[in-house]
Amino acid sequence: MADIIILGVFVADAAYRTARMPAVGETLLGTGFQLGPGGKGSNQAVAAAKAGGDVAFISRIGADTFGKMGRDVWAQAGVQPLVVEDPDVPTGSAGIFIEETSGRNAIVIAPGASGHLSATDVEARSNDIAAAKVALTQLEQPMDAAVRFLELARAGGVTTILNPAPAADLPDGMLALCDYVTPNETEAEALSGLPVTSVEEALVAAKALLAVGVRKGVVITLGEAGSLFWDGARAIHTKAMDAGPVVDTTGAGDAFNGAFATALAEGYPIEKALRFATATSALCVTKHGTAASMPTRAQVDALLSSASSDDSI
Ligand code: RIB
Ligand code: NA
Repeated sequence: MADIIILGVFVADAAYRTARMPAVGETLLGTGFQLGPGGKGSNQAVAAAKAGGDVAFISRIGADTFGKMGRDVWAQAGVQPLVVEDPDVPTGSAGIFIEETSGRNAIVIAPGASGHLSATDVEARSNDIAAAKVALTQLEQPMDAAVRFLELARAGGVTTILNPAPAADLPDGMLALCDYVTPNETEAEALSGLPVTSVEEALVAAKALLAVGVRKGVVITLGEAGSLFWDGARAIHTKAMDAGPVVDTTGAGDAFNGAFATALAEGYPIEKALRFATATSALCVTKHGTAASMPTRAQVDALLSSASSDDSI
């Protein structure tokens, strides 16, 4: 049984680098291509394990080459796979465009086998869920699987984190199953119905989300502006860290969430957990790929010891 249990999607990422985003109807010559392991849940599991966490991952893959890619990356990172292999449905894939100049991306994901994750799959892992310290999920797999996962974790007294990505309407009561929610700007806007274009607006949105039931704290990630945390008493603005030139922001949110789970499982106080997650995402964006760009614990610790701490609001 692992300390950190993660439910989510595995897909193969087909990532094209281009000078700029293509327009509808346009054919562009790209500048590079990389095929590698992706999917938010799997990326977060890899990030958490490489950051030093003891991690198990609940998912579905197909009996194919892309599924093997998943098994390989979990074995390398030390993630325990709690994975159903479906002989009839292919492993999912994602098409990603990465803009050379900014490192920004646009993604279309076809979840494939992971899109069949169900509440029943989750219930089959109820012992693993209840035995964990921290449970983390996202919204790429069907909603009822995510809800059941959070319910079982809550029932077991496990600390729950929902990374509400991609943005979606949540069923009533779902936020009340979450100790922490970690939307980015877009997702925070979708959940709160409020604009999130600055740290100040993020605080207003975080207060609204806490008011509708999140149990312990809201973390809104803000890209270059870092992140904003609110727990009902304290606001913490954690500034972004510079770990070198940004080449690919894909997976930055996954790095943050995986590392945040590892930090909470280790009992880090919140300020330290936020800085640990921030350092992990800062390192991720300096490398190409998603799961392939997650840093080791030694790299995260080295960045933290060289970065100054003046986070405040
Ligand atoms: O968060 C990045 C991930 O989102 C990519 O790996 C892609 O697979 C999509 O799921
Ligand atoms: Na990256």
